Amino acid sequence: VSDALAELISRERLAARVAELAEQINADYRGREQDLLLVGVLKGCFLFMADLLRHLEFSPAIDFMRLASYGPDTETSGVVEIRKDVEIPVAGRDVLIVEDIIDTGLTLDYLRRHLMAGSPKSVRICTLLDKPARRKVSLVADYVGFTIGDDFVVGYGLDYHERHRGRPSICVLNPDSDE
Ligand code: IMP
Ligand code: MG
Repeated sequence: VSDALAELISRERLAARVAELAEQINADYRGREQDLLLVGVLKGCFLFMADLLRHLEFSPAIDFMRLASYGPDTETSGVVEIRKDVEIPVAGRDVLIVEDIIDTGLTLDYLRRHLMAGSPKSVRICTLLDKPARRKVSLVADYVGFTIGDDFVVGYGLDYHERHRGRPSICVLNPDSDE
């Protein structure tokens, strides 16, 4: 299978923006970083979270969740299943969810409500990419790397059927083209 890819965000722009997001997070959590817990949403977050973490001036606790949602090929149904929950209790913590992309918002809406049930001090969302045009629930992230249009993208952790996660830039995908 070959996929046609067109670069949308270069690795240089990604690196620069991740550093800027980390600066914002440094400023916002400075002085109360001992309660900060980064919760990455697997698998797509793994490169973004690793790069973000290395730019933070403090070394917060980190944990991961793994969610599955059912739906057609490139869309979420909103029926979300938790495959792996956080292991660190969120009670009394400032939770920062680290996500690759917000599309319909259904996944993060569910995840945020799930985490709120654990009585954290706060829950904020940091997403590398945001596709606001496709939102089905009102959900606004606190930190957004790039706002993009209604394209399916891969690279820098994001996949299509597990392909392309290791690409260093964000690319728009045209699946199964004959190219
Ligand atoms: P939502 O629930 O519709 O917001 O979908 C969120 C999840 O769908 C993300 O965490 C991604 O795993 C996946 N997703 C949505 N759009 C894309 C995309 O353009 N490329 C790769 N994965 C995507
Ligand atoms: Mg995903």
